Amino acid sequence: MSDIFDFDKPELYAVMGNPINHSKSPQIHKAFALQTGQKLEYTAIHVDAGGFAQAVSHFQAHGGKGLNVTVPFKLDAWKLSDSLTERARKAGAVNTLILDKDGSIKGDNTDGIGLVNDIIEHLGWSIAQKRILILGAGGASRGVIGPILDHRPKSITIANRTAAKASELAVFFNEHKTTQTQEINGGGYNALEGQQFDLIINATAASLHGEVPPLPDNIVNSDTCCYDMMYAAQPTAFMQWASRHNVNNISDGLGMLVGQAAESFNIWRGVKPDIKPVINAIRDSM
Ligand code: ATR
Repeated sequence: MSDIFDFDKPELYAVMGNPINHSKSPQIHKAFALQTGQKLEYTAIHVDAGGFAQAVSHFQAHGGKGLNVTVPFKLDAWKLSDSLTERARKAGAVNTLILDKDGSIKGDNTDGIGLVNDIIEHLGWSIAQKRILILGAGGASRGVIGPILDHRPKSITIANRTAAKASELAVFFNEHKTTQTQEINGGGYNALEGQQFDLIINATAASLHGEVPPLPDNIVNSDTCCYDMMYAAQPTAFMQWASRHNVNNISDGLGMLVGQAAESFNIWRGVKPDIKPVINAIRDSM
């Protein structure tokens, strides 16, 4: 009987994180729902440290169908998942949970595909056959390397303040790469001296502190593309570094944020929203 009465009730989704106040996910998913005519509710839920599993279980018990997961719970979500997609397994982190009626939890990661789609489809830059430099060797970096490799770059270099972490990531992805011809290297920033790159992706947390990793000046030319996974109303410190080095193609990560949300929406609802109008609307509201 309750199914009949609940038939018209919007299905429940949410993003969980800490802090969560400034999350743009509710605004993004409401815009997608409006655009695609989908009936759903999407809220932001603050979760205390150590309370993630309980919060998910509570949400699921109240009919929740899906969750986005943000800092600092992406690893907790990975551990909590009963099953993982291949890309989530490689990423070592989960940003999308699918909550099944039978109580099971499936974990996916749409961050990498969100980044790759923004770079290729929205910005019109290419990855195939390009020399890619990824700055940082934390969770954000690991989450995007698999989807970048799927687009067959010529090489991927991972540079990190703690060089050993970059080397470890390179070893992991060398074992999981799609073709043997791809070169994946990892090390410190000083090892970049004398090299040039076609695309640099900043996956460090340095922009949060208004800092730029110590990059040699000569690693870019005017055709290099520079992408910061962070976004802000003003250009980030890395974007300013790129401008000072006469780079013409520079972007922040707002398109990645909207893109990962669009992939999650598609997983839950089976409809892929158009991200461009939503990127523009969020940009205007910043
Ligand atoms: P996330 O999940 O966002 O990747 P993380 O796992 O804490 O977060 O990783 C943060 C990344 O930013 C790391 O690569 C870190 O370098 P270290 O591994 O050497 O700590 C990098 N990072 C943070 N602040 C930085 C700064 N000011 N300059 C350069 N790199 C920085």
